[in-house]
Amino acid sequence: MSNKLAAWDVQEADFPSTGTLFDQLKFLLRYAVLAPSGPNTQPWKLSIKDNEVSLIADFARSLPSLDPTNRTMYLSHGCLLANILIAAEHFGFGYDVKCLPDGPSGNRSASIKFNKMASEPRFPNLFQEITKRHTNRKPYESRAIEAEKLEKLKSCVDRQGFRLDIITDDEGKNTMADILARSQKIQLGNKEMRKELANWIRPNTSNAKDGLPGYSFGYSDFESYLGKFIFGTFDMSSSRARVETANMIAAPAVAILSTDSDDRLTWIKAGILFETLFLKATGLNVMFDLFSQPVAIPELRQEMSQRLNAKYPQLLIRMGYAQPSKHTPRRLVEEVLIP
Ligand SMILES: Cc1cc2nc3c(=O)[nH]c(=O)nc-3n(C[C@H](O)[C@H](O)[C@H](O)COP(=O)(O)O)c2cc1C
Repeated sequence: MSNKLAAWDVQEADFPSTGTLFDQLKFLLRYAVLAPSGPNTQPWKLSIKDNEVSLIADFARSLPSLDPTNRTMYLSHGCLLANILIAAEHFGFGYDVKCLPDGPSGNRSASIKFNKMASEPRFPNLFQEITKRHTNRKPYESRAIEAEKLEKLKSCVDRQGFRLDIITDDEGKNTMADILARSQKIQLGNKEMRKELANWIRPNTSNAKDGLPGYSFGYSDFESYLGKFIFGTFDMSSSRARVETANMIAAPAVAILSTDSDDRLTWIKAGILFETLFLKATGLNVMFDLFSQPVAIPELRQEMSQRLNAKYPQLLIRMGYAQPSKHTPRRLVEEVLIP
């Protein structure tokens, strides 16, 4: 496995059952860092002090133009938190979690105090899915996703204040595809936003352990080599929008995760539910492609909200069947752990 993908090579059998508590918590974090983040910025730092793990916002990895409120950063932190807790339950830990333990403007998004008394699991058993989960940007097969699978997916998010709308009809998919196309045109047509995104696009051969290698968009090594320059320099919005719109219309289902409020705590909680949903879909062989662009543009978010009669859409998801894609790079725990 290449160095930039080494983080994915984590084996359950290597859990240090006779090691120190520090070693065991550090091992749990190997599952945490596999969480998704848009566009693989991995905007987190982690610390371990005695029995407490802290999840800290890394604002040096924020996206001031694309994500000025850090909404997607906190959604990603929620995903990371879900991975830690699912792994903790798997290895028999009990825990007490506090989100935003230093208040809403503190840098810590969560602190988790672990103990050795396994309590009633709060998550479905999705441990094996953590190392298999990935975003899949390929076109999806047209075959429908079975109704019982859609029900299982909906139930992952079904909590007071959170909801998942799944759209399978052509009219609904067309509407979301149109909103997505307009968001692409606005974002990629804006030089500032385009440059910010280009900073995270990597040639396939790059050794970087973050960002998006061209292969995740289906680009060859040569295309990916030029990709960053072309993407950052020219307005590619029409061609990108055409591909993504067509993929969305052809997919069997489109889903939208929405919430009743829109603040840091809600984003973290939505991230936890979203990662649970993503892992569940992985276990059902249903692929996900994610879009935060329409939500970042207030007038388009408003359109989505009216169409769904939902207060705050958070993430647009294309769903369907396809052959698995390759993982994207990750930094190792040692690279995100601070004293
Ligand atoms: C909150 C959030 C927002 C995301 N938004 C987008 C997006 O707008 N467009 C996109 O192509 N991918 C998006 N992604 C997917 C990430 O790019 C992807 O998770 C990351 O590159 C890591 O790859 P992996 O999911 O295959 O591990 C998003 C992911 C998260 C967690």
